[in-house]
Amino acid sequence: MPEKKVIAVVGATGAQGGGLVRAILNDPDGGFTARVLTRDVNGAKAKEFSRLGAEVVAADIDDPESLKKAFAGAYGVYCVTFFWAHFSPEREMAEAKSMAEAAKAAGVQHVIWSTLEDTRNWVPLSDNRMPTLQGKYKVPHLDAKGASDHFFTDAGCPTTFLRTSFYWDNFIHFGMGPQKMPDGTLAITLPMDDKKLPGIAAEDIGKCAYGIFKKGAEFIGKTVAISGENLTGAQLAAIFTEVLGKDIHYNSVPPDVYRSFDFPGADDLGNMFQFKRDFEDYYSGARNPSFARSLNPSLQDFKTWLTQNKNAIPLE
Ligand SMILES: NC(=O)c1ccc[n+]([C@@H]2O[C@H](COP(=O)([O-])OP(=O)(O)OC[C@H]3O[C@@H](n4cnc5c(N)ncnc54)[C@H](OP(=O)(O)O)[C@@H]3O)[C@@H](O)[C@H]2O)c1
Repeated sequence: MPEKKVIAVVGATGAQGGGLVRAILNDPDGGFTARVLTRDVNGAKAKEFSRLGAEVVAADIDDPESLKKAFAGAYGVYCVTFFWAHFSPEREMAEAKSMAEAAKAAGVQHVIWSTLEDTRNWVPLSDNRMPTLQGKYKVPHLDAKGASDHFFTDAGCPTTFLRTSFYWDNFIHFGMGPQKMPDGTLAITLPMDDKKLPGIAAEDIGKCAYGIFKKGAEFIGKTVAISGENLTGAQLAAIFTEVLGKDIHYNSVPPDVYRSFDFPGADDLGNMFQFKRDFEDYYSGARNPSFARSLNPSLQDFKTWLTQNKNAIPLE
């Protein structure tokens, strides 16, 4: 039996990395084993992964030495950053640089970097259609990821740049689900006009990443983008109505209104949705669900995901 290839997974106790660890564990004959990176090796999720056969090691992406140790001996690494834990693009870029350098030092053969577009390549800071945020970004949590791609190339890491999409899980965890309107009806609110929002079940990101590791060389040096289905607000609302058995409307608001909402990051998300709206041809065009399905044959569409998760959607 050839020795199994170790995939070291950053964010393994979270959404993207967790999906990848489960994909590896669910395919015991696939030739890979999972190394779970966590700041808390005694946490419940880490212990559960250990029980299921994963190796668990301590690492913090803000501690470069811990990354070097955690990546040592790995064939592949999955790298992701956690913008919403700190709201700092500079910190995200420093973390990406540390991961790239640690992967190079460890001689890793395949890195997947979970990235997104640097929107300033489409909307320069001088473009006033949306405000500039934190002094030098249009969509800080996208721009910082895209602006970090070069760290992996500069370090000489054999990298696949994996551009992800909006998680449908945001309808459960991020307060984006149907809400009661002043007239008593239920609606989902997005500043997308009649444009499509590419979305994906967060679990499917890790499954697609596993597909990329399995295919290996053909994806090194490539930028790929994934989604489970690209739907307009009206189409999302129609599927909510059908699956939840309640009338749910699409409340389309201007991006300015979305940016003014009273939650942290509303300006960043308002700009993000506006980017996806204004550049629909590019953004949705780059995310073809049939490509994601070629990596992950069990890729869910929105109706399948919602049917599985309908009881978790918080309804007022
Ligand atoms: N929400 C969306 O729609 C969406 C869509 C596309 C991309 N994204 C991006 O996805 C990224 C987050 O990924 P996710 O959703 O998979 O995260 P998540 O579910 O929030 O996972 C966070 C996990 O990462 C670990 N973590 C946090 N800080 C860490 C650190 N300093 N060092 C090591 N591990 C750390 C934590 O593990 P331990 O506590 O075990 O250490 C935690 O379990 C964000 O940057 C976001 O912009 C989100």
